[in-house]
Amino acid sequence: MPSIFTKTMSSPVTAMTTNYHEVTASARAIHESLVKMMAPKLSEKMQSPKVDIWDVGCSDGGNYQPVLAGICEQLAQKKTPTTVRICGMSLEEPPRYVLPVVFFQSLAKERPDVAALSHPDQQGLIRHLLAHDDAIRARVRVAPEILGEVPQELNAEQHKALANVKALILEKMGPHQLVFNYVSGSFYQEATWKKCEAAVGKPDILMTLTATHWLDTPSTEAFGDFDLNTHPFAAHQEQWMADYTRWLEFAKTALKPDGYLIAADLIAEPQTDGTVMFPAKLGYQLLQEVLAQHRVDLHFSVYFPTQDERTGLLTSGRFKVEHTEAISVNEMSAGAEQDVAEFCMQVVRSWSSWQVSKGRIGDHSLTSAQVDDIYADLKQKFSDHMVKSGSSPQMPDTMAYTYLTFIAAPEHTEASERLGLLRQA
Ligand SMILES: C[S@@+](CC[C@H](N)C(=O)[O-])C[C@H]1O[C@@H](n2cnc3c(N)ncnc32)[C@H](O)[C@@H]1O
Repeated sequence: MPSIFTKTMSSPVTAMTTNYHEVTASARAIHESLVKMMAPKLSEKMQSPKVDIWDVGCSDGGNYQPVLAGICEQLAQKKTPTTVRICGMSLEEPPRYVLPVVFFQSLAKERPDVAALSHPDQQGLIRHLLAHDDAIRARVRVAPEILGEVPQELNAEQHKALANVKALILEKMGPHQLVFNYVSGSFYQEATWKKCEAAVGKPDILMTLTATHWLDTPSTEAFGDFDLNTHPFAAHQEQWMADYTRWLEFAKTALKPDGYLIAADLIAEPQTDGTVMFPAKLGYQLLQEVLAQHRVDLHFSVYFPTQDERTGLLTSGRFKVEHTEAISVNEMSAGAEQDVAEFCMQVVRSWSSWQVSKGRIGDHSLTSAQVDDIYADLKQKFSDHMVKSGSSPQMPDTMAYTYLTFIAAPEHTEASERLGLLRQA
């Protein structure tokens, strides 16, 4: 029977970033590249009965569905039992790591009686199975704190669909086991990495997607006071170099000696001050203006490095870069939304919604209606900007941002081996 894991997963919208790969052609292209890059490394790692994978800066994990589908595809080809343990790490607290639920929901959509249920009903069904069914729990273990609200009672329709979904998951998982965990915290703090290690062990594969352009900040609650608009470009650049150097050091220490760092990260063209990162850089600037107008106390701290800056730090951080690919897709020619302002707003919203939801006006948290208003104003800002700027360099004809995907492996020197042994002692 052909494996359905090979099919492209289309995800339901459960949180803003979950549908990001549906919203942008660039995201779809990088997921394809990631899956392709990971395939040989996964099959190498799956020679052993246990594979540990960390997803660093994961948000809700929803965008990793294609990667998870690739992992399941590899499992489907393997007869001897393998356990794959996945740990998400991100700032979001409480956890919103919906990956296991939305993944199995996508899978179960193949069954007509499941497809007929509403999205919340489908999710309730999956959560119920993952929480209560012993046969499923022997195959898929999800830490309770990331399961979300589990319905105790199912309605008649859900009951009807339950047996089918259960049979499907058991069939697809074969003798294998998937384990999901999530650690909330900053990836600029050693303690967060240690918590992931305690949760699932050192990673064979450490993956990260669209996360390491965030700068370290004094606060993980809000993004500190490092204002994108008022700090000079050089200060951002300097801070990013220091932050990413530290991030790589943590990653190298975390990885198993024969592990891989597999990443897809935003990069900027050289000499452009990041402005061609449309709509990313402009989007954050406009969002910052909107937040100020709404008197929301929140600042974004991001820097988009060039390809050379990224690979330079990888090399000086003693990573051997095995493969890199710069991917840029013109969203306009790839059949993106006709409403460009709406499209740009949605992209920036998918990147920033959690942080914005944590914003405060004085002593008050933002309501969801206020968050909606902020993004409606952001869309208007994009529209105004387009009318105003015409052919300005901030509004290129092509709408593309560039990703660098890469595989890197830690280099081991005698000195680093000795240091590692000392650290372990
Ligand atoms: C643009 S989202 C990408 C999320 C996910 N990897 C994806 O591709 O859908 C960036 C994520 O990085 C996380 N992040 C930013 N700075 C972080 C930090 N210092 N520590 C941990 N996570 C961080 C944010 O919380 C956010 O979830």
